[in-house]
This record gives sequence, C-alpha cells and structure tokens, in this order.
Amino acid sequence: MKKFTSIIAAALALSLLAGCSPSTSSSNKPSDGTDTESKNDTAAVTTTAPVETAPVTDAVTEPPASSSPTTLRDAYDGIFYIGVALPGSLIGNAKFNGVITDNFNSITCENETKPDFVLDAAASRAGLPDTYTSPRFNFAQAKKAADYAVKNNMKMRLHPLVWHAQTPAWFFTEDYTDGGALVSRDVMLARMESYIKTVLEYFKDNYPGLIYAVDVVNEAFDTGVGDANGIRMQENRWYDTVGPDYVYYAFKYAREYAAEDMKLFYNDYACMWKTDLMINNLAQIKDEGLIDGIGMQSHLAATDSVTQFLRAAEKFCGAGYELQLTELDVGVKSDSESEFKTQGKFYGDLMSGLIKLIKKGANITSVTVWGISDGNTWRAGEYPLLFNADLTPKPAYEQFLAASPLVTE
Ligand code: GLA
Repeated sequence: MKKFTSIIAAALALSLLAGCSPSTSSSNKPSDGTDTESKNDTAAVTTTAPVETAPVTDAVTEPPASSSPTTLRDAYDGIFYIGVALPGSLIGNAKFNGVITDNFNSITCENETKPDFVLDAAASRAGLPDTYTSPRFNFAQAKKAADYAVKNNMKMRLHPLVWHAQTPAWFFTEDYTDGGALVSRDVMLARMESYIKTVLEYFKDNYPGLIYAVDVVNEAFDTGVGDANGIRMQENRWYDTVGPDYVYYAFKYAREYAAEDMKLFYNDYACMWKTDLMINNLAQIKDEGLIDGIGMQSHLAATDSVTQFLRAAEKFCGAGYELQLTELDVGVKSDSESEFKTQGKFYGDLMSGLIKLIKKGANITSVTVWGISDGNTWRAGEYPLLFNADLTPKPAYEQFLAASPLVTE
C-alpha cells in the first residue's frame, strides 16, 4: 500500500508543480532527454495509480518495484535541469561516465567554452590585417563537450561570452600580442560583436536546440573593484577599451545572434549581497528585452544563510527574471561526519526552498553543481560537492535528492 500511496503523492506533486511553475509549462521546460521519456514517466503514474481502489488480482496490476526516483536526473525531471560543470579531461572517462549520465541532464564546460579556449591566438595574429576585427576560433575542445551532451541526451549552458577573466590579453590589442597597445572602443565593439556572433552561430548551426542558456556577461558588478555604479573596473580590459556600457553591448549583440531558444543570462557571484546592484545595473537591458535571466553562481559555505539566499532568489524572480543556480558548491571546514551532515542539511534546505519558490510562481529552471566530486573541485580542502572523491554519494547528495517532491521514500 505504501508503494501505491507514493505513486499518488508523486503524481500530485508533479501536477502541482506543472500548475504553479511557469518553468514547467514554457517551451524551456526541462525534460530528461526526450519528450517520449517524460510522457512515459507520466503514463506510468496515471495508469498504475487507480489500481489502489480495485482488488489486486494478479501480478499485472502491481506497480513497478521502485517508484521513487533514485538519481538526481529522475528526481528533478520536469522541475528544473540538473547540471554539472564538466572538465574536458573527464569527458568519456569510464569511471565518471555513469555518475554523470545517471544524475545530470545539463552540462556546463568548466573551461572549454571560455574565450581563452575558443580564441585562436596564432591564427588571429597570422591573419592580420584581415582578422583585425574578426579573430579566428578553434572549437575543437568545445565540440567534444557538445558531442558528449548530444550523445547522452543532455542540454548545455554556454558559459561565458564576455568576462574580464580567462579572456586573452592579446584579444584587446592592436597587433594581437599580449603587450600591444589597446584598441579603440569602436574596434573593441566590433571584435565583441564578431566574437559573440561566431560563438553563438557555431552552436546554432552545429547543435540546434542544445544550448538553453548563455552566460552573456560574467561578473561585471562589484562595488569593491568597480566604478561609481559598481561596474568592474579593476583588471577588466572590456572596461578599459569599451567603457562601462560593455555589458549593454554584449547583451545587444547576443540577442541579435542567439537562437530563440537560447535564453540570455547575466551570471555573478555573491548575488545575495548585491541583488539591488545587479537589478539596477541591468534595468535598461531588461527594459529593452535583451536579457532573460540571472545566474546565481552560488559558491557558498555551509555557514551561509539559506534564508538570505532564497530571499535574493525571490527578489530576482520578482523582478521578472528567469533564475538558474549556475555554479553551486557548498564548502565545509573538513570531511568529518558532522560537517558533512551540516552540509547535507544545507543542500536539502536549499533545494526545498527552491521548490517552495517554484510553487509560488518563481521561474527557476536549472541548478548546476560546479564539479562532480570532492576530488575534482576548484575548492580543494573544502569538500563542497555531492560525491566523495571515490564517487560514493555524500549526505549532500542524499539530501539534494530527498528534497525533490517526486521522491517519496
Ligand atoms: C567563476 C567562473 C567559473 C569558474 C569559477 C572558478 O565562478 O564563473 O567559470 O572559473 O569561477 O572555478
């Protein structure tokens, strides 16, 4: 009987979410691979549930042995995409493959779609003067990730187009050398347009439908290193060449060249402390319809306040943005049992909080963790992810999973 009740509860949860969350009814609705798969899930629920009221006469009327999802990908199917940042070195690695494909239906390249990786210095330099405002590209590494996503029925977040970091110094200079003189605003805007056009068209032409979100600009607002409006000045060649409206132009070009199903995002860290700064600085871009969503990177610590985080998330949604958690990891002080328990509770509370916001109408469409295991994280020693280095699931994984309304046991 418990199994039947679980199935009904799952069906109710699903319909509740479908009714309340714009994310599940829009064309951007996450689904686990194909429509057929999602439909099959729903069909299983509706055809087996009614037998609870009828006498069980033979084995045909038995529900499946395990009705509650046991992987993240299944647990959040139809609610939001579950993503992972994938280092190129792990693509096709048999040890990791099962964990990745079982649990995630979205990937973000940890590096391979960053300007440092797709811009081709030698070819751009060799091609001068023809390449002066149209640099050359090499998508070989990005292609491996895109092919992997297609092969495994996954979608992809394209991260990031315009960023002060991991963008080569030569891209901003007259002769495409690191030490060259910076180009004028007009030239840099032409290079920006060329960059955005080429990258978006590469994915649009070769992988239609793969990219559902693009981080158009990453990390442009921070009062500590910014101008009077908090626009990043320090070590930011985009600011040095174009000026403070580089963010505006990035979105303008992105909207011009993106496919309709590529949602345009502004992505940043420490969002719960700079919600107003971000909303204010994006106001004109939003008014002109050039942006769709906010990416909260979500590099957090288990000592942070989930309530404060959710308040910021709610504010972004209330301001009319689609919301995605794009780089989630939650650091702890050690790998002790008690720290992992605290971390598990944090992940669980965060996911339950997001589900509550979705039920209230928030358009939250994706949650991406920034790495697979504690053995492959940029925050070594903080054990911030869902799997141990040996790929066994941590309490964080269990709590993340259990927070889904589709998980009933
Ligand atoms: C930022 C970037 C990511 C990544 C992390 C550190 O959050 O957006 O691409 O580089 O830093 O790993």
